[in-house]
Amino acid sequence: MIVLGIETSCDESAAAVVAATSSGPKILSNLIHSQIAEHLPYGGIVPEIAARAHLDHLHPLISRALSEAGIGLREVDGIAAAAGPGLIGGLIVGSMTAKGLAWAARKAFLGVNHLEAHALTIRLTDSVQFPYLLLLVSGGHCQLLVCAGVGRYIRLGTTLDDAVGEAFDKAAKLIGLGYPGGPAIEEAARNGDHNRFALPRPMKGRPGCDFSFSGLKTAVRQIIMVGGGLDPRGRADLAASVELAICDALADRTANAVDWFRRKYPEGDALVVAGGVAANKRLRERLMKLATDAGLRFAAPPSPLCTDNGAMIAWTGIERLRLGLIDSLDAPLRPRWPLDPGAPPRSGAGVKA
Ligand code: KG4
Ligand code: ZN
Repeated sequence: MIVLGIETSCDESAAAVVAATSSGPKILSNLIHSQIAEHLPYGGIVPEIAARAHLDHLHPLISRALSEAGIGLREVDGIAAAAGPGLIGGLIVGSMTAKGLAWAARKAFLGVNHLEAHALTIRLTDSVQFPYLLLLVSGGHCQLLVCAGVGRYIRLGTTLDDAVGEAFDKAAKLIGLGYPGGPAIEEAARNGDHNRFALPRPMKGRPGCDFSFSGLKTAVRQIIMVGGGLDPRGRADLAASVELAICDALADRTANAVDWFRRKYPEGDALVVAGGVAANKRLRERLMKLATDAGLRFAAPPSPLCTDNGAMIAWTGIERLRLGLIDSLDAPLRPRWPLDPGAPPRSGAGVKA
């Protein structure tokens, strides 16, 4: 089974071809065009520019993904595109392209939930079986979920305000590091003192699995203002302190989820981390220790498959296609699309689906 995957939900245009073979899944091609340079002059992602850039880059990416995989459209079984959550302009470009190709080539169309694609990536890279516990940490989301099966997720906790990637990005901006902030903070932190600045660990010690990061951002701003700016040493130390505070907060909430998961799902054997922030080495080490101490296996996709990519969309297409979960060509786009629609709503100001 071979699926072409298209990702356009934010600021990466991506196309990939993934095959399910008798010896396991294989990524035949995986191409990404990052739009960072296009948005740089504006200090953030401009949705209209993102949509137009997807339009410019997507077709050449798809052609190259197919030719690198050594196949034509005739040889794919399905065409998958992110159908939400994300910026509506980009979702339209990716999904309409996929639907057009699926119609013309008479192939199955699969409208994929971008969050589900992050959640299932580990089944592409490692043979992790359901149910598993997932910490999903990206630029738009921060959630703890039980992955019980394709399309079956139970949310244990979510952020009450900022997503964790957003916290990295905002802190990096305040410190004067580049965008995206996560990798910039990780890089700067390598030469920094992780214990120099006392930053809050939001929600630490409280029961439950919810997160909060807005207090951390305020504390970073305060440190910079009180100190009257930062020298290079201060920048490295503050980056390191932010990284440690975020890892502490994530590990604390995940520990509660691990306890709960081991009691409710004794047959589950893995703690998985996914999403862009899962590329962070310090976080991976912390979670690995947490999992091992609890008798769970720890699994994380390789870093390039943690951040947005086309292979995760193609793989989710395969997971859905083999269950017969094909979408019609008039399937709607869903800019908000929670993985667990039954989860109780949270009341924080910045709460996302
Ligand atoms: O999953 P992703 O590529 O896009 C979304 O779906 O949001 O995640 C992007 C986020 C950004 O906030 C970025 O700063 C963060 O992931 N990120 C990292 C690292 N690499 C990317 N955060 C911490 N450490 C990293 N190495
Ligand atoms: Zn993502």
